Amino acid sequence: MNRKNILIFDSGVGGLSVFKEIVQRLPKENYIYLFDNEAYPYGELAPETLVNRTCTLIQQMMQRKVVDIVVIACNTASTIVLPHLRKRIDIPVVGVVPAIKPASLLSKTAVGLIATPATITRQYTHDLIRNFATDKEVKLIGDSRLVEMAEQKLRNERVDLQELELILSPIKGKIDVAVLGCTHFPLIREEIALVLGNCVELVDSGAAIARRVESLLEIEGASLGQGTMEVFSSAPPFEEEALNKTLRQLCFTPVQLLPIQGASDH
Ligand code: DGL
Repeated sequence: MNRKNILIFDSGVGGLSVFKEIVQRLPKENYIYLFDNEAYPYGELAPETLVNRTCTLIQQMMQRKVVDIVVIACNTASTIVLPHLRKRIDIPVVGVVPAIKPASLLSKTAVGLIATPATITRQYTHDLIRNFATDKEVKLIGDSRLVEMAEQKLRNERVDLQELELILSPIKGKIDVAVLGCTHFPLIREEIALVLGNCVELVDSGAAIARRVESLLEIEGASLGQGTMEVFSSAPPFEEEALNKTLRQLCFTPVQLLPIQGASDH
């Protein structure tokens, strides 16, 4: 069997939450994880810069490696980049957008959408709410500090629960379902659950994305052993040692550099 080459892209380590769901379903394929830490956090970027960087980096990666499918494992990018990227490349592109539809089906009272400052302002997000949460109120929180907390946790730093409680206070006690509308947030799921309480259900898009990737790839037969797992970043990572330790646990090789060419403005 020919292993498929799956490229997973995010601004930082958040996309690893999506990677975990995909690799659980498709453990034998080859994985490339690419993150744009030079321009992180994406939730603070101008839309044109975000489109430009995402498309440029992915096309650069595709010049270097064979890629069968691209997963934009970032809500902030997906809510704006997908049509642009699909015009530029001719392989399947799967995006991750906030799970508003399943959340509003589950909710009996109100839904909380926890995302980046950019995602909560996007037209795409407001269209999702208008189309799929017609009978539910959706309360929005957009905060880049939550993204940073997830990055810190992956570098083995402790999450400050008091700070988390303060950030989530506008929705605490007012919702019964919360959408983790940023791929970084499943990495701090336990902490968010602790703060919001066990009467709040947390919903993310990871498992649905993994199913979508599997259905698009049409994998035939099973092969022995594991595929390759490589990681690329657009700049030398902060706390590289700690990051590589986590990546080794996930079976990745240490981070390699893919400096961006032709779109370094941000
Ligand atoms: N992980 C990303 C998302 O799903 C973006 C986080 C950021 O860089 O602001 O939105």
